[in-house]
Amino acid sequence: MDTTATLSGNVDIPADIAATLVDPAAYADHRIHDSYRWLRANNPLGIARPEKFDPFWVVTKHAHIQSVSRQNELFHNADRPTTLMTRAVEERVRKITGGPNPVRSLVQMDAPDHPKYRALTQGWFMPANLGKFEARVREIARATVQRMLDKGNACDFVADVALGYPLHVIMEILGVPEKDEPRMLKLTQELFGPQDPDTARIREALTAEQFSAMMQSVVNDFGAYFRGITEDRRRNPREDLATVIANAKIGGDYMPDHDATSYYMIVATAGHDTTSSSTAGALWALAEDPAQFERVKANPDLIPGLVDEAIRWMTPVKHFMRSATSGTELGGRKIAKGDWLMLCYASGNRDEDVFEEPYRFRCDRKPNRHVAFGYGAHLCLGQYLAKLEMKILFEELLPRLKSVALDGEVKMTQAYFVNGPKKLPIRFEVN
Ligand code: HEM
Repeated sequence: MDTTATLSGNVDIPADIAATLVDPAAYADHRIHDSYRWLRANNPLGIARPEKFDPFWVVTKHAHIQSVSRQNELFHNADRPTTLMTRAVEERVRKITGGPNPVRSLVQMDAPDHPKYRALTQGWFMPANLGKFEARVREIARATVQRMLDKGNACDFVADVALGYPLHVIMEILGVPEKDEPRMLKLTQELFGPQDPDTARIREALTAEQFSAMMQSVVNDFGAYFRGITEDRRRNPREDLATVIANAKIGGDYMPDHDATSYYMIVATAGHDTTSSSTAGALWALAEDPAQFERVKANPDLIPGLVDEAIRWMTPVKHFMRSATSGTELGGRKIAKGDWLMLCYASGNRDEDVFEEPYRFRCDRKPNRHVAFGYGAHLCLGQYLAKLEMKILFEELLPRLKSVALDGEVKMTQAYFVNGPKKLPIRFEVN
């Protein structure tokens, strides 16, 4: 489809701003927030035409993000790439899979499949069921905190706490034994490797054939690993999520292998980078604001607020894409059938019309109607788990710390899909 023909009118956003939206480095040095602020004030729903990408609408207001996300018939996930990719990458993906997306998990589905597949695990992710895992998550949190404190009085909070903890929790609930965690981490990184310069350079150097062979082998490896788990859980059901996925039936039959693999993959991948980013974000905010640190420490009831504010503050998932299934109007703009839209969650979460002092970190923010978990039918399935694990970690950590402060420069990952701190040097005193 020739998208440029359908995107008409004087709505283009300036080229330099469009360039930041597709520049992974702009998400690391916070220039993206200057762009978002400009867009909300001057062109809250405009078209970006960056080089190498198909044009797309840039949705920056909280209300528009919600409006698009709740109209799931009008704005589809599966028809075009669900995350931003260049034309060249999309072409490669289409060669491999025949469609615009590398996998077909919940986020790449629409009705009627999406509600059916989501219903299979929705109950498992509800707080009532997650309660069964709370004690085990607390054990993991305690061990993680102890390892950090054993470092003395300084550490890199990302490497020593925020990266490993959510991965460990997710593998536990998925039922992957600890010895296989490094293999899982490697697979997820290969498949969804962030656009950090090292990974990107390696990928760009590959020919289309090499790239497709690499992707295929990662998906096959992932599939083979989880086929083993599936067979085991059909014979020996447990309380874990793998048991639910392995035994789930669609129309009376077990899920096809490819769908089950995609299901395992989204849980394995969606649940750790995101939670790592917001966990690190919470500690970063406290390390910069001793008064707020003291307040939360003295009032553990503020921890859920701290968690929600850190998720708003970091907004680890920067965007998801949708495409219009028919012509419509939004915010005074005419959207044409087939148009591609970028939902900028991190912009919605700094929207001056919704948040008082949006650029301040306030753990007592109430209400905190952030869209970091998205909105509508695809609203993050793991939101209660993410909040539970973060709450437990800070309940275990804060009583042990007397003070915490930054001990060097914080570095962020360069990525326009999921990003957050990659280095957070801190020094601390123990109680
Ligand atoms: C979907 C963010 C943690 C599993 C999503 C979406 C966002 C998101 C923005 C898309 C929502 C939409 O399109 O409206 C986050 C953030 C997290 C987090 C910020 C941590 C702070 C988790 C965890 C899991 C998880 C821990 C699972 C273990 C999923 C799944 C979906 C999803 C399965 C797809 C839902 C669907 O399409 O129906 N998440 N997520 N997420 N997330 Fe999360």
